[in-house]
Amino acid sequence: MPMLKQPNQKYAAYKPFAFADRTWPNKTITTPPIWLATDLRDGNQSLIEPMDVERKKKMFALNVRIGIKEIEVGFPSASQTDFDFVRFLIEQKQIPDDVWIQVLSPARDAFIERTFESLKGVKRAIFHLYHATAPVMRNVVFGLSQEEVLQTMTIPHVRQVKALMAKNPEIEWRFEFSPEMFSNTEMDFAKRVIDTVVEEFGATPQNKVIINLPTTVENTTPNCYADQIEWIIRNVAKRDCILISLHPHNDRGTGTAAAELALMAGADRVEGCIFGNGERTGNVDIVNLALNMYSQGVHPNLDFSDIDEIKKTVEYCNQIAVHPRHPYAGDLVYTSFSGSHQDAIKKAFASREAKQTQIWDMPYLPIDPMDVGRSYEAVIRVNSQSGKGGISYLLQSEYGVDLPRRMQIEFSQVVQQVMDTTGKEMTADDIWNIFDREYLSKPTPYKYVGHKLAEDSSKPEAVEVQTEVVIDGATHRAKGTGNGPIDAFVSAIAGELHAPVKVMDYHEHSIGQGANATAITYIEMRVGDGPTLHGVGMDSNIVTASFKAILSGLNRDAARVRTSEATSAN
Ligand code: KIV
Ligand code: ZN
Repeated sequence: MPMLKQPNQKYAAYKPFAFADRTWPNKTITTPPIWLATDLRDGNQSLIEPMDVERKKKMFALNVRIGIKEIEVGFPSASQTDFDFVRFLIEQKQIPDDVWIQVLSPARDAFIERTFESLKGVKRAIFHLYHATAPVMRNVVFGLSQEEVLQTMTIPHVRQVKALMAKNPEIEWRFEFSPEMFSNTEMDFAKRVIDTVVEEFGATPQNKVIINLPTTVENTTPNCYADQIEWIIRNVAKRDCILISLHPHNDRGTGTAAAELALMAGADRVEGCIFGNGERTGNVDIVNLALNMYSQGVHPNLDFSDIDEIKKTVEYCNQIAVHPRHPYAGDLVYTSFSGSHQDAIKKAFASREAKQTQIWDMPYLPIDPMDVGRSYEAVIRVNSQSGKGGISYLLQSEYGVDLPRRMQIEFSQVVQQVMDTTGKEMTADDIWNIFDREYLSKPTPYKYVGHKLAEDSSKPEAVEVQTEVVIDGATHRAKGTGNGPIDAFVSAIAGELHAPVKVMDYHEHSIGQGANATAITYIEMRVGDGPTLHGVGMDSNIVTASFKAILSGLNRDAARVRTSEATSAN
């Protein structure tokens, strides 16, 4: 064997067939497909430890609960567990009236017989027959020509299935045929096989046959699969007697895209697994595909309103964890750590609230997390990459504290300092504790005790305040006048307590409602020649909240002076 210069030289590029007048690129998906879940067959066959009966029961119940009406429950001729499970479903009357179970069989006499045996007593069922059609299988594995495949594999086994169905007329039957490795098969031969199956089975528009077209191994870009599907749809002899089903695997990581483009090409049905379990890289992920439709305004007719419960069940059944970044379901997919993303999300939530709109127009969140049972709590998480947006969003959403803009910048620096020391992600509670420590509970040197207000509108400085403040443990009284309570308080503490404060900006709002409402006041101020900083006060009385805010600013300034003196002493 000659040596190759590079390993990639051993792979031949897919040669697209001539199909210039394809129409699917101009189509969109406007209706959901018929769904078939194959977790219990394709998915189960691919597990390190296949599901036991308990797990199978849970997976079946989950498929039903999600709203899947066609469920492939096993490969009864290949596995006694699968056979027994099919018997359990039938004998224990576990199949809801509106659900079809489907069973898979290879095109071999004894396997078909055994598969029929598993179905005794069922009310209705889809019999799924398959054999491979691709050249590598015909030439290398079977050693058969195209004609021989038709004569020895397709025709006799379709006839056998048809005859066995006729022998059990009390059962409502449907028939599915899969040319395994369809996407690697020459299109003219695939068409011949399909036409033969439809003819031999005697399908009619009233009794359609399901023709399932797998990318058993995905090895082209998704557009090639869409071309194949559209070509087959346009060229089969009896389109009106066929439901075209897709069965995309995910070897190139494009199973979802392949299914979407092939639906645009006109397919009717999709076979896949919940969270994309299945052989190798898995079958197409039904959750991903369905919620992609959902985010485009098309209801998939499936229920994913409690995605975490679904995830828990699937992880239990498959014994495989769902990746934290799995589309729509991963633990991290509705979470933003980046400051600019958080800021944009925060603004969009506020705008949505202000506009009272139902339409979802949210940066960085493709769907509303609430629609899959997630809360907004996890939307924003704060780490060392986060900025003010995330921090203030968490304070607002979890504690009702709506920081003014310049204070957001100041407080984010406080949080950043803590995070630089701990290096850890912050929860809303952690952020609240920092806020409380920094602004609300700094005990020294100033502590509010009480005040009295008097008002005489005939005077230019209409308000007089008498206040009591503890400074470093000693109680002080002070009196001042001004054109409002804050002005009067500032004058009182400047004159008699020697605390020169200049108020630069003021914001307040209430937290909570009715009798339990609390006022929160944010005061931007300067102490003497010091830098601008904020103080915050909370109280059921709005005036008291303002006075506390000024004392909070004084305490912060005192802490700043202490730190800078300590730093210069070192
Ligand atoms: O992937 C595949 O080709 C299959 C067939 C048996 C339908 O699972
Ligand atoms: Zn498969």
